[in-house]
Amino acid sequence: MLGLPLALAVAVALGLYLIIIPVINYFRDTKGLRKYPTFANLAGISDLPYCYLSASGLRSAGLHEAHKHAPILRIGPNALSFGDISAIKDLYGHSTKCGKDLNYVITSGSHTHLIDSVDKPEHARKRKLMSAAFAIKNLERWEFKVADVTDLLLKALDSRCTAPLPTSHSIPEPADLNVDFNMWINLFTIEAINNIALSARLPLLEQGSDEVTAERMDGTMYKARYRKAQNQTSLAQATFVWAYDSYEWLAWLSKCIPRWRKIWKEAEPWNDVVYHQVSERLRRYQKGEQLDDFFSCLMTDKSWTPNNLEWGEIVSEISIIINAGADTTAIALSNIMELLIRHPEHLQRLRAEVDEVLDDSEVIASYDKVRDLPFLRACIDEGLRLIPPTSAGLARRTPPEGAQILGEWIPGDTSVSMTIYSAHRDSKVFPDPEAFQPQRWLDAEERKKMEPFFIPFSAGARGCIGRNISYLEQIVVVATLVHRYDFALPSPSWKCQRHEAFNILVGELPIKIWKRDLGELA
Ligand code: HEM
Ligand SMILES: *[C@@H]1O[C@H](CO)[C@@H](O)[C@H](O)[C@H]1NC(C)=O
Ligand SMILES: *[C@@H]1O[C@H](CO)[C@@H](O)[C@H](O)[C@H]1NC(C)=O
Repeated sequence: MLGLPLALAVAVALGLYLIIIPVINYFRDTKGLRKYPTFANLAGISDLPYCYLSASGLRSAGLHEAHKHAPILRIGPNALSFGDISAIKDLYGHSTKCGKDLNYVITSGSHTHLIDSVDKPEHARKRKLMSAAFAIKNLERWEFKVADVTDLLLKALDSRCTAPLPTSHSIPEPADLNVDFNMWINLFTIEAINNIALSARLPLLEQGSDEVTAERMDGTMYKARYRKAQNQTSLAQATFVWAYDSYEWLAWLSKCIPRWRKIWKEAEPWNDVVYHQVSERLRRYQKGEQLDDFFSCLMTDKSWTPNNLEWGEIVSEISIIINAGADTTAIALSNIMELLIRHPEHLQRLRAEVDEVLDDSEVIASYDKVRDLPFLRACIDEGLRLIPPTSAGLARRTPPEGAQILGEWIPGDTSVSMTIYSAHRDSKVFPDPEAFQPQRWLDAEERKKMEPFFIPFSAGARGCIGRNISYLEQIVVVATLVHRYDFALPSPSWKCQRHEAFNILVGELPIKIWKRDLGELA
């Protein structure tokens, strides 16, 4: 009996909430945002078109296309996207008036961490604490950790080596495409960051899969998929979070769709996976083991005085390091490998540069020998430019009093952003932007002109704190791999699948791999 009136009431409430109130707000236009063109129909009334674009996996590329007709686009009732590199300084520079937007608050756990803390003094306190751990002298001291894990990667790849390809134009036998490079390099970056942050030895590269132990807060344990859980968490959040007011119920509603129900289910173990890693480290600490890693830097300062952080904050900070520190670098490495194999002329030049400093018998490139190789750095930077692992417009919020952006006065508490993807495709700064041209980075003058607009790690006070670790890993791995192996893609026309979540997730990257003939090479 109550069924019909209840359904009617729900329908009316939903109609009010979803249609009537947003339409009234659109026409009231108290912030004066209606003068900006929208990137899609209805984007001035609802955030759903932007969520829809996000679900397509082409958030940044889609906005980049739309910006070809307008430097400022309305992407939601309260959100603007900028498409001109002059906005970078206003949005992300050291002197920006903008802070992080509400999406960071919505996805935050019980304790904020370095990426999602919105309050500026709170962020400054954390950044100072973490900077001590990220100091360059620590990183160089931890180079051996990267080398150890690289050794495990080589063992896995060695055992999958095939016979050399007969000619450089041959198409590999399907059975020889036995290395999913993207999977292996993700296992590598996960192991590397867990070793650097927590002195953990995961057996991922030995077992050839991402299966690990997860631990609930109550101490019960179960098996879970590390990479899968992280991947699906990022995918689900980065699709629905953009409708800030409706995130909770949109997430709930999406679980009625089997595909999304599965994704949310696979995402579930993520917090427990991280919690187990940090808890294991705490147990070793309590047993009195002296270990040299991020965890110990968070527990005490340089003079061994305890930092006295809450356990929740430590878990939260470690979780963001092993989260942000793994998939981003793996994506960068998959991108650079695909690009190098596709451009044999650059691969050859890079190899010649590396061979020059490494002996034939040297297996793992020592950082000292390869850190300053100009073409190696140029290849890595050109990969980060062309396919930035984080391509997205990182959302910022104007201060209550508003802010000047791209010469326009933007009212307070408005969401503002510019995609890194678009910044890297400005043809005035990066001529022929769609082409992979590492040599553009070799001229010191040219490099200086490009650097302010080269923002794969974002910029300013909220720029990436892990940039140097990431370069360390990329430099050692790329130099080592091109020195030891040769590779082939399935075919010249073969293309890797990419899907943008928070980062640009990479699908399978099947390659054939064989050892180069280096005489002494074991
Ligand atoms: C190629 C690899 C990487 C890329 C492309 C990258 C990109 C970024 C970007 C774009 C941001 C800004 C995020 C935002 O505004 O929301 C960021 C922040 C951050 N990244 Fe990275 N990152 C990489 C590697 C790493 C590594 C290896 C670590 C840790 C070891 C790390 C830890 C962090 C942290 C903690 C922040 C927050 C900084 C703050 O807000 O103070 N990242 N990264
Ligand atoms: C991560 O998600 C993307 C997009 O759905 C998918 O292409 C990729 O295969 C996923 N990777 C893993 C390890 O689940
Ligand atoms: C990276 O290292 C350089 C010195 O090599 C230093 O100037 C810079 O501040 C470091 N960056 C970060 C984010 O720690």
